[in-house]
Amino acid sequence: MTEQVPGKVDMDKLVSLCKRRGFIFPSSEIYGGLGACYDYGPLGAELKNNVKKAWWKAAVQDRDDMVGLDASILMHPQTWVASGHVEGFADPLVECKQCHQRWRADHIKDGKCPACGGELTEPRMFNLMFKTFVGPVEDEASVVYLRPETAQGIFVNFQNVLNSTRRKLPFGIAQMGKSFRNEITTGNFIFRMREFEQMEIEYFVKPGTDEQWFKHWVEQRFNWYSNLGIKKENLRLRQHTKDELAHYARDCYDIEYLFPIGWSELEGIANRTDFDLKQHSQYSGKDLSYFDEETKEHIMPYVIEPSAGVDRSVLAFLADSYDEEKDKEGLRVILRLHYALAPIKVAVLPLSRNEKLLPLSKEVYDSLRKCWMVQYDDAQSIGRRYRRQDEIGTPFCVTIDFQSVEDRQVTIRERDKMRQIRVPIEVLKATLEAKLCGESLEVLPPGGKKWLGFE
Ligand code: GAP
Repeated sequence: MTEQVPGKVDMDKLVSLCKRRGFIFPSSEIYGGLGACYDYGPLGAELKNNVKKAWWKAAVQDRDDMVGLDASILMHPQTWVASGHVEGFADPLVECKQCHQRWRADHIKDGKCPACGGELTEPRMFNLMFKTFVGPVEDEASVVYLRPETAQGIFVNFQNVLNSTRRKLPFGIAQMGKSFRNEITTGNFIFRMREFEQMEIEYFVKPGTDEQWFKHWVEQRFNWYSNLGIKKENLRLRQHTKDELAHYARDCYDIEYLFPIGWSELEGIANRTDFDLKQHSQYSGKDLSYFDEETKEHIMPYVIEPSAGVDRSVLAFLADSYDEEKDKEGLRVILRLHYALAPIKVAVLPLSRNEKLLPLSKEVYDSLRKCWMVQYDDAQSIGRRYRRQDEIGTPFCVTIDFQSVEDRQVTIRERDKMRQIRVPIEVLKATLEAKLCGESLEVLPPGGKKWLGFE
C-alpha cells in the first residue's frame, strides 16, 4: 500500500533506525502493538520536545501579539455540537465483502479492496471522534469526547484570555497538545495516528483584514519549516479547491512535504472567518464578541488558523535530515538535524577507557550537561562512537585525549563536515554555545586552533 518516492529515504529504513536507536516504538509492542499508536523513546522524546519548543518560540516567545494556552482534553460535549464535529466530523467508510478489512472510500483508487481485490460495500459515514464517559454511569448523558483538535479549547477560552490579558485585535492564542481521531486508514508510521499532537494557532483579526493576515501566516509557517532545515525543494503550498474546503473555511492552504510516501499535508492554514466564535456564542448563550474601542462597536473577529501536527513534523524533520555517505569503513548514516532539534547536542568521548582520562572527561561532561542534553560514551573505538552520534544527529563531539590531561585542551568534532578544532577547556562551553546558536563554524574561539579537515 505504501508508495516509495525515488531518491527519498526508504520509510522502512527510517522506521528501523527509529526503533534501533530509541526514537519511536510501536505502542504496547509486547502485546502486539495497537494500530496507529506510537511511543516516543528516549531520543524521540527529546526530538519531539525540541520541535514543540521551536514552535512555541516562534509562535509565542518571539511575538508581541501572541499568548499561550493549555486547555483540557475533555471538554463539555456541547463544544463539539457547536463546532460541527458531532454532525460532520466523519469519513466515508467501506468494507471488503471478502476479507472484511475497512478502508476510507476516498483513499481507494480502483473500487477494489487494496488488500485482496475483493468487492467493497457502499460507503457509510463514520464519525472519527473517540467517545468516553465522565463519572461512574455509562449512559448517553455522560458521554464526552476525546478532543479531535486542540482548536476548540482556544475558541471557548477566547473571552477568558481577552479579559485576563486585555489584548487588542489582532492577537492570537497558541496551544499544543494531544488530539485523538479514530482514523479508518492508518499505516505510514507516524504520518496518520489515532493519538497524536497538534500545534495550533487561532489568530483573531478585524473582519476585512483577514486576507492580509492569512498571507502573513502562510508565509510565516512555510519559513518556520525551512528555517529549521527542511529543504525548500521538499516543501510546497497547495490551495484547497472550493469543494475541498472544510465547512468553516473561506480559504485554506496546505503546506505539503515530500514524504517518502509522496507529497502530503504537513500543516493547514485556514481562514475560519467568524464561524467558531459565532457558533459558540449561539450554543452557549454567551456573548463572544469583541468591543472595538476605536469604532465603539461590538464585532465578531475573524480567525486565521495555522494548524500543524507535531508527529508529522517529527517525521518530516527525520526524513529530510537522513543522509548516507560511503566511506572506507562502509556506510556512514547521518541525521543532519538542525541544531535546535537535535536530541543530544554534545557527546563527550574520552579517547579510551584509560583511567588517566577519566577525571578530566567527567569534569567536562558534568560541566556541559548543566547546559544541554549531553551523552557520555566510552565504549568501543572512537570512530564507531562518532558514527553512533552521527546517526542520532548529535552536532558536536568533544574528545578528551592524553594531551588534554597535559594542556587542558580538547577536540571538538562537528557532525556535518567532520571538521575538528582544538580549544582550551575554559572556552569550550562558550564555543559550543556560540556554534549551537548558529555562529559560523569558521569563527574561531579565543585560543582555538584552525579547523582541521576544513575544505
Ligand atoms: N483545527 C484544524 C485541524 O485540526 P487538520 O487538517 O484536520 O486541521 C491539522 O489537522 C494537522 O494535524 C494536520 O496538518 C496534520 O499535521 C495533523 N494531523 C491531523 N490528523 C492527524 C493524524 N491522524 N495523525 C497525525 N497527525 C495528524
